[in-house]
Amino acid sequence: MKLNEIGQLLHGGDYNVDQWLDRPDILQEDIRFMKKAGVNVVSLCIFSWSSLEPEEGIYTFEWLDKVMDSMYENGIYVILATPSAGKPPWLIKKYPDIMRTNEHRQRLLYGERENHCNSNEIFREKVRQIDEKLAERYAHHPALILWHISNEMYGICHCEKCQGNFRKWLKEKYQSIEALNYQYWSRFWSHRYTDWEELESPSPIGETAVHGLALDYKRFYSDRSIDFLQMEIDAVKKYNPEIPVTTNFFHFNCGINYWKLAEKLDVISYDRYPHWHSGADQSTEWEIGLESAFAYDYCRSMQNKPFLLMESSPSSTNWMPVAKLKRPGIHMLGSMEAIACGADSVQYFQWRQSRGAYEKFHGAVLSHNGSEHTRVFRDVEQVGKRLANLGHIKNTETKAQIAIIFDWDNLRGLEEQKSLRNINRDFEKVIMEHYEALVQNYVSVDIIAQTADYSRYEIVIAPMLYMFLPDTAEKIRSFVKGGGIFVMTYYSGLVNENDLAFEGFPPFSLNDVFGVKSEETDSLEDTDCNSFIWQKKEYQIRRYCDLVQLHGAEVLASYEQDFYAGMPVLTKHTTGLGTAYYMAARGEVEFLRDFYAKIIKDAGVEKIIESEYIRDVMVKERHDKGTKYIFLMNFSKNMSEIGGERLSGYEVKIEEKCFDNTALGFQ
Ligand code: GLA
Ligand code: ZN
Repeated sequence: MKLNEIGQLLHGGDYNVDQWLDRPDILQEDIRFMKKAGVNVVSLCIFSWSSLEPEEGIYTFEWLDKVMDSMYENGIYVILATPSAGKPPWLIKKYPDIMRTNEHRQRLLYGERENHCNSNEIFREKVRQIDEKLAERYAHHPALILWHISNEMYGICHCEKCQGNFRKWLKEKYQSIEALNYQYWSRFWSHRYTDWEELESPSPIGETAVHGLALDYKRFYSDRSIDFLQMEIDAVKKYNPEIPVTTNFFHFNCGINYWKLAEKLDVISYDRYPHWHSGADQSTEWEIGLESAFAYDYCRSMQNKPFLLMESSPSSTNWMPVAKLKRPGIHMLGSMEAIACGADSVQYFQWRQSRGAYEKFHGAVLSHNGSEHTRVFRDVEQVGKRLANLGHIKNTETKAQIAIIFDWDNLRGLEEQKSLRNINRDFEKVIMEHYEALVQNYVSVDIIAQTADYSRYEIVIAPMLYMFLPDTAEKIRSFVKGGGIFVMTYYSGLVNENDLAFEGFPPFSLNDVFGVKSEETDSLEDTDCNSFIWQKKEYQIRRYCDLVQLHGAEVLASYEQDFYAGMPVLTKHTTGLGTAYYMAARGEVEFLRDFYAKIIKDAGVEKIIESEYIRDVMVKERHDKGTKYIFLMNFSKNMSEIGGERLSGYEVKIEEKCFDNTALGFQ
């Protein structure tokens, strides 16, 4: 069966059955439980290298044959992983160089997982061999629907081999050492290079001051990781190119440019572990839910199609500072939220809890008590039942007319540089504030890279787009000229792709488009505050205030305090057929909500639901050609009401409507 032809949403999870090879009864028992819980997919072999190749060159696949066949016979699909994220001890005993070298230049000892060097040729060969063996044996197995490459790839190696590859990468990028010196501005502190061999990866005991270099090492290693992944993809596709591939994404700071990685994958998958109930006040579940929604929207936007929620905990984790249990209703809410944002699955880490080692107390559908008569099992069963009724939602789309730029290069660049505030720079929080304001306006939002195609959107928002990649300024210009609405904020357009400051006033080369020139940026202390009045309402400002000169823009609001009182804080400029807004300061979420409400209305962007903002209620939409599926989600434990619908605490309702808004009912 092809993944996109399956007419059901997927429900299941990581199944590490090779931990029970001496207990054949467990497999039978698990299949019975899986059916009860409405499980239709399992991910196998994520860390099974030792069980598949117990000694070098000796393969033991018989147990896996049995598991794959049993799954197929019982109507459960298999996502089969390549085992490269966990290495057997024999491998490292024989080839210790496979282990990663850290930034202090210490090679790691055997242990843990996902800590190999991506340049190591022996490791590449060993991984390729086992991947090909798996593919040769299972690529045409009827249960197989997807390859899961490795697991949560992350991290950086600093070994000599990687350094050598880095120098090659630099030579290719810059061609001449002088070009590199210019971009790195290396005469500063006399760091001018005369030979490629002088270049070393950044280190706390070495170079940290050349920001362009630090940024390049991150890019280089991201490319190395993607190259490694490509090797694994080629290995598994060799025997059947029809089986799609994925790898599970987790944290956007994992060291890999997910936008580039996404280009190699047939489907995006993502692991999410929200810190539910981690705060004391009522709005917390909303904030936690919002972070997840952002991540899900990001995953959907990467390929503009549904993704898979590859892992989530059916109960608590074992690694959070405090692992609270999901309160009643939260498991359904969190699972449906992923579906609402474009996931075609709800999968768990893990199906059955390990009995020993690091994750023995991590949440699982089946815990050590081995019983289905538990709260967690019942929660999972409920989700299974609901998903079974939503098969028609699989493969449906989300059409966002608004996008926020959240860019990997920009993020990495902002991490390195020294300026403004070196504590709590809040870049990710700023992004979340804009996202929250849009979500509170009940519109769909895409999260895009600066290299994306803006023409799909009516409104594009670029919070703190400090770094402009080579085409960015021109893309913004033509987007606005062609009729788009672009919102740019303070601290944007300062440096090029190598973190070299542009000459002239920011935002680089767009002063005419925005009608402003940013002259200085003030950073406020946590206790400082400024304010402005817009449309007769007063709003607070925290942390960032650009002082801008006017060059044609219309002033919509001005600072109320400090020596720059009276200077513009919000401007509007019409260029060609479009409009360019410049937000000079970091206004509070309430301002962003009001401001976006206005421009959404002006632009005629369609809202998912016509409602004023209701605290703690999130609304998301998916649709196919004829039907809209509107998810109303209450993140408060108290009752809420939206659009005439009552939602009890943590409730999710799914409303089905025709495009002409004829109601078709609720799920
Ligand atoms: C990650 C990993 C899993 C497991 C979980 C625990 O998502 O991919 O193997 O360790 O964390 O939360
Ligand atoms: Zn290395």
